[in-house]
Amino acid sequence: MKKIVILISGRGSNMQAIVETALAQQWPVQIAAVISNRADAAGLAYAAGKGIPTAVVVSKQFADRESFDAALQSKIDEFAPDLVVLAGFMRILTAGFVKHYAGRMLNIHPSLLPSFVGLGTHQQALDAGVKLHGVTVHFVTAELDHGPIVAQVAVPVLEDDTEDTLSQRVLVQEHLIYPQAVLQFVEGRLSIKDGRVHVSK
Ligand code: GAR
Repeated sequence: MKKIVILISGRGSNMQAIVETALAQQWPVQIAAVISNRADAAGLAYAAGKGIPTAVVVSKQFADRESFDAALQSKIDEFAPDLVVLAGFMRILTAGFVKHYAGRMLNIHPSLLPSFVGLGTHQQALDAGVKLHGVTVHFVTAELDHGPIVAQVAVPVLEDDTEDTLSQRVLVQEHLIYPQAVLQFVEGRLSIKDGRVHVSK
């Protein structure tokens, strides 16, 4: 049984989609913990309500990224995960932390990478005037919002879209694509070669 630790910073709707899909489809996994860097992350209550262990490592209490990431890493490793899932975990990660979870840490980013890294991706897409926007699930590497791409879904950008309407359209796809990618990892179907992800049948 594969163990998954999910990291969140806020709402946790992607975490919720993964947990609900795992339960509904009876995945052979244990959601070992949901960990947040913010005590007020709304998703913590959902996880606790499902009987999933939760933990908080408050990023603000650490002097620098290295000490926070070290504390976070030791908390995560208490649960000995096979996979770490970043689900709206809004932190820039140190290279050492990323290396420790190389090949076993996924992230979801609300754009068609490599376009629109960082924050405010929906507004970035509107400002750029692109006609297609979307979402990417990728393995995490040291460079922010980069790394081998597991899956992408595009959505149209409509004439009268606002940041709000566009983000809603992308979020619907996030909740479908992320559980699917996590399951592919759990089933051992993802491999990385020359920076590209191969998904076996
Ligand atoms: C999601 O849209 C996710 O793609 C994004 O934050 C949101 C979290 O929502 N992540 C990033 O921007 C990472 N760079 P959620 O807490 O409801 O899952």
